[in-house]
Amino acid sequence: MSSYQLNICAAAICLCIVLTSCTGNKSVEKMPAVPTNEPTETTVLAFDPSVENYTKYTDYSPVKAEPAEFTSSGSNVLVAYFSRSGNTAITAGVDAVSSASLEIQSDGTTVGNAERMAEWISEETGGDLFLIRTEYTYPVNYDQTVRVGEGQDRDGYRPVLISHVENMDQYDMVYLVFPIWHYTLPVQICSFLDEYDLQGKTIYVFTTHAGSRFANSLERIRTAEPEAEVIAGIAVSQNSIAESRQQIIDFIRESGKLPSE
Ligand SMILES: Cc1cc2nc3c(=O)[nH]c(=O)nc-3n(C[C@H](O)[C@H](O)[C@H](O)COP(=O)(O)O)c2cc1C
Repeated sequence: MSSYQLNICAAAICLCIVLTSCTGNKSVEKMPAVPTNEPTETTVLAFDPSVENYTKYTDYSPVKAEPAEFTSSGSNVLVAYFSRSGNTAITAGVDAVSSASLEIQSDGTTVGNAERMAEWISEETGGDLFLIRTEYTYPVNYDQTVRVGEGQDRDGYRPVLISHVENMDQYDMVYLVFPIWHYTLPVQICSFLDEYDLQGKTIYVFTTHAGSRFANSLERIRTAEPEAEVIAGIAVSQNSIAESRQQIIDFIRESGKLPSE
């Protein structure tokens, strides 16, 4: 157990003693959150067993993200993506080494590789851009993220998602954009596929990677969504993101399935 977790446990025991003495035999329904100096829009929740699915692989303090509204434009194209960016709590002072692979902008925000690809696809198709977000964030440190990602995949963990598409029925085409993690589909995409029935839709798969290309992601998506048509898009190396833009646009135009056609 990490020192972070030990501290949390010690705080919990003290709180239980205090609260029990104040409330007699009444059970305490909800434990208060431990104060934190994390960003104000996020909160570290103590005693949520879900946290252990992130912290048991490496020592860090995940933060709980607030659910974000997703508004549809009425398009029949959904561009759903997962990226480290948007699922990592960047705090002030993070340096380029500890955050390797997260491109930090001058305003402190980040841009991920899958995120950039998804944005280009959305611009070209007019599709609704949807970020797949997990309830807890991943480490800022790249190596720690690899440990958490690999551990969750090995354990078959399916992260709880806090972003949702209310009306999946309106979409005929789903562009699914994600990085390869642990030589396969990242667990966050597995959660997404578990949540929705994509029967009858066309799914275009775009990956970004450090050498694994699509890995076995196409097969796994076909297994998860047997009634969907799953089409390989483009697998883009993490070293060639900027140059891939035109290739992605050409693919979309040549696939001949733009919403207007
Ligand atoms: C947890 C984790 C595991 C990864 N595993 C692989 C892998 O097995 N094969 C591979 O080619 N790249 C792997 N990568 C590299 C990413 O796929 C690559 O850096 C990608 O461009 C990151 O996209 P993003 O910035 O949108 O998160 C891994 C990266 C992370 C963070």
